[in-house]
Amino acid sequence: MSMRIIGTGSALPEKYVTNNDLAELVDTSDEWIRERTGIGGRHVSTGETVAELAALACGRALADAGRRADQVELLIVATCSPETGIPSVACQVQSSLGAVNAVAFDLNAACAGFLFALHTAWAYVQSGICRNALIVGAEVLSKLVDWTDRGTCILFGDGAGAVFAEQCDRGGILSFVQHSDGRKGEVLRCDSRALTNPYVRGVMQSPWVKMDGREVFSFAVRQVPTGITEALKQAHLKAEEVELFVLHQANFRIIEGIARRLGLDADRFPMNLDRVGNMSSASIPVLLDELNRAGRLKEGMKLVLSGFGAGLTWGACVLNWQREC
Ligand code: UT7
Repeated sequence: MSMRIIGTGSALPEKYVTNNDLAELVDTSDEWIRERTGIGGRHVSTGETVAELAALACGRALADAGRRADQVELLIVATCSPETGIPSVACQVQSSLGAVNAVAFDLNAACAGFLFALHTAWAYVQSGICRNALIVGAEVLSKLVDWTDRGTCILFGDGAGAVFAEQCDRGGILSFVQHSDGRKGEVLRCDSRALTNPYVRGVMQSPWVKMDGREVFSFAVRQVPTGITEALKQAHLKAEEVELFVLHQANFRIIEGIARRLGLDADRFPMNLDRVGNMSSASIPVLLDELNRAGRLKEGMKLVLSGFGAGLTWGACVLNWQREC
């Protein structure tokens, strides 16, 4: 028993912010941002919530798959920027979609969140707990970013991407690896509310994203190729047999570094970060949706998905793009 993706969808906020717009806020330039990251612009929420963007992306993935909301059995939202602690974003999405028969919950693995959610769904489907799943990566990071910190505010964008997947006898997802290293949590963190109750008055730390960019950069270039190689080995495939590597869109230099370490040309690593920036858990499913809608995903094509980020967390998945049963 395996699981195949049969529909994709995405949603982006209306407001678009260019690098030149940011150069009016902080001491930066379009040239610096493009040269160091490859990012040219990003969508920024002016009111769209994580739940709204996720629901839009889910609706589009269901339409693409030709399935109804009441057929969904599992709904997982990967996010690290929910508006509410409770209820979960997934339950809000369930309600707005009318996915009345789904079990819904959120999962946070930062930029690797979509991969971790897809892996979880795969485990549910493989074990027979459910027959299908709607998996979403959705973020409004603009509310977690310090807009006076040029080291971080230039990187992130808001958006959501979703896939609908269902069980299949063979093919579909071929292998998965997941890793975490909590010892390196300090290199990318965002504090939550301080403990404040009648017995203690906690001091609020900075509520904004804080990052050691160089550390994250070298972790990604070192660990991601190892994870991909591990997943390929499990799937009995060589890197050369994979047509497209759909990676988390953090920085074009990270992606090129990973391609180099795998001994591959960067043209097998599609990118959209020039247009949408780093959308954390939404990066991979939004890019997958773009490729799907552009007709670039052909039946039987081998793909690798790989995400990495805060935690630290990273993972990779090898799949056979197989919409026909
Ligand atoms: O999803 C995972 C999330 N995290 C990431 O993806 C981050 C991964 N890391 C990176 O992408 C890169 O480390 C950055 C793009 C964040 C930074 O690039 P870098 O080449 O590592 O630059 P740096 O931090 O070493 O800074 C070099 C210089 C510094 O100036 P000095 O000290 O050399 O005078 C920075 O202050 O660039 C300066 N700088 C900037 N200058 C103009 C940092 N940010 C900016 C900026 N505009 N936005």
